[in-house]
Amino acid sequence: MSENKVIDESIQGEALMIEAPLRGNGKKLFLESYGCAMNFSDSEIVASILKDQGYTTTQNFFEADVIFVNTCAIREGAEQRVRQRLTEYKKAKKTNPDLIVGVLGCMAERLKSKFLEEEKLVDIVVGPDAYRDLPNLLLSAEDGNKAVNVLLSKEETYADITPVRLGGNGINAFISITRGCDNMCAFCVVPFTRGRERSRDPETIVNEAKNLFSEGYREVTLLGQNVDSYLWTGGGLKKENLSKEEQENATTFSQLLERVALVNPDLRVRFSTSHPKDMTDDVLYTIAKYENICSYIHLPVQSGNTRILEMMNRGYTREWYLSRIDAIRRIVPDAGISMDIITGFCSETEEEHRDTLSLMEAVQYDFGYMFAYSERPKTLAERKYKDDVPAGVKSRRLAEIVDLQLKHSAIRTKQGVGKIHRVLVEGVSKKSADKLFGRNSQSTVVVFPKENFKPGDYVNVLAETCTGATLIGKAV
Ligand code: SAH
Ligand code: SF4
Ligand code: F3S
Repeated sequence: MSENKVIDESIQGEALMIEAPLRGNGKKLFLESYGCAMNFSDSEIVASILKDQGYTTTQNFFEADVIFVNTCAIREGAEQRVRQRLTEYKKAKKTNPDLIVGVLGCMAERLKSKFLEEEKLVDIVVGPDAYRDLPNLLLSAEDGNKAVNVLLSKEETYADITPVRLGGNGINAFISITRGCDNMCAFCVVPFTRGRERSRDPETIVNEAKNLFSEGYREVTLLGQNVDSYLWTGGGLKKENLSKEEQENATTFSQLLERVALVNPDLRVRFSTSHPKDMTDDVLYTIAKYENICSYIHLPVQSGNTRILEMMNRGYTREWYLSRIDAIRRIVPDAGISMDIITGFCSETEEEHRDTLSLMEAVQYDFGYMFAYSERPKTLAERKYKDDVPAGVKSRRLAEIVDLQLKHSAIRTKQGVGKIHRVLVEGVSKKSADKLFGRNSQSTVVVFPKENFKPGDYVNVLAETCTGATLIGKAV
């Protein structure tokens, strides 16, 4: 039985047991998420809030009373996908005129009530900081009124809400540690859709990790747009505004990482995303100190050229970035490293594009997420610069970067052949039922014969061969 099923049943069971009729009263929710891990994690908060209202979940939107789509606004393409999806929900609305459709997340926050004008189908628009208001908004929509809440908050972290784990395997779970972002990278819509950065009480983070471990989870990923800027000072204050004593009592990211690692040596800890301007050696030493903190760092670079990085307002130069890579290699020598890159940012020349390729050669990333620049309304770049690299040039540069990354991924994967990897088993291999798959500490996928192992086990696997990005071996 899949974990998903278990969650569904527990939601239904509880709804049936509750005596006083709740607003949801067994109504069915179809909830779908787009975008980054933070959005998926938020959907688990939403599911929790609605479960408390007596809603059950369904995998089939044709039988839903409520459809919620948690949206992403990071690139034009992400928004197009959501709009496409909304046209499919129209079919469900035809068969069930009482169906309520809600748009949640970053695209909702970006478009606000404009969404209601543009898409007649939509009944509710809710931004990422307003999910506690969902029961009220639903009530209003049931009465036939359109409902909007896109207020951003300086405090909301949903720290007290226990997420309902959706669609997972019962092994890995996300834990949000910060919300929002204060960085204002010129290309990025996130500060507008998620508001100011705030950190969550470490006590609630550690407790969530403990509970997950006791439920059988074996890996947690700590989430934030910039995890390195995590700072708990006892309630929202910035470090500069605290007394010396208060500063000493503050919890930094490396201290938080350590506390989560100490929950149990069999609980793996990952985190995302690190920011090159803020990643300290402290964090690297903490990773090196604990076996269960994975040797894997996602360190987006965006460009290998300092002029472009400056225009992007990233807060570092090419040299600074490479010095952070040196620090990783020195302190965590076995680390897997991945990146994000944007091609064709405003005014990027051919030579500057080649700087990105040469930086990739210097680093030899294990993985990468690569995108053509997409101009976003309201961002610094939209207001200040011209989106002047032709689409064809952007996509050709993107193809060159993707090709080089494929080459590097293959080289890095091959370096793992002949070595023994400690693998956390996540499930049965998609390609063959008698094989299991999991990941090593560096986050590379490893496939091996099932024998008597099961998901959640740690298995030492000798890698005997590999494909482009997967190691293949046997348990030793
Ligand atoms: N907070 C993370 C990333 C958030 S968005 C960080 O700072 O690294 C994930 C990635 O999407 C970014 O790293 C960037 O590579 C890409 N991205 C963001 N805005 C974009 C845009 N306007 N066009 C293309 N890619 C973009
Ligand atoms: Fe966007 Fe930059 Fe914040 Fe990342 S750090 S979310 S890219 S503004
Ligand atoms: Fe998209 Fe919002 Fe995440 S814009 S990438 S869902 S923070």
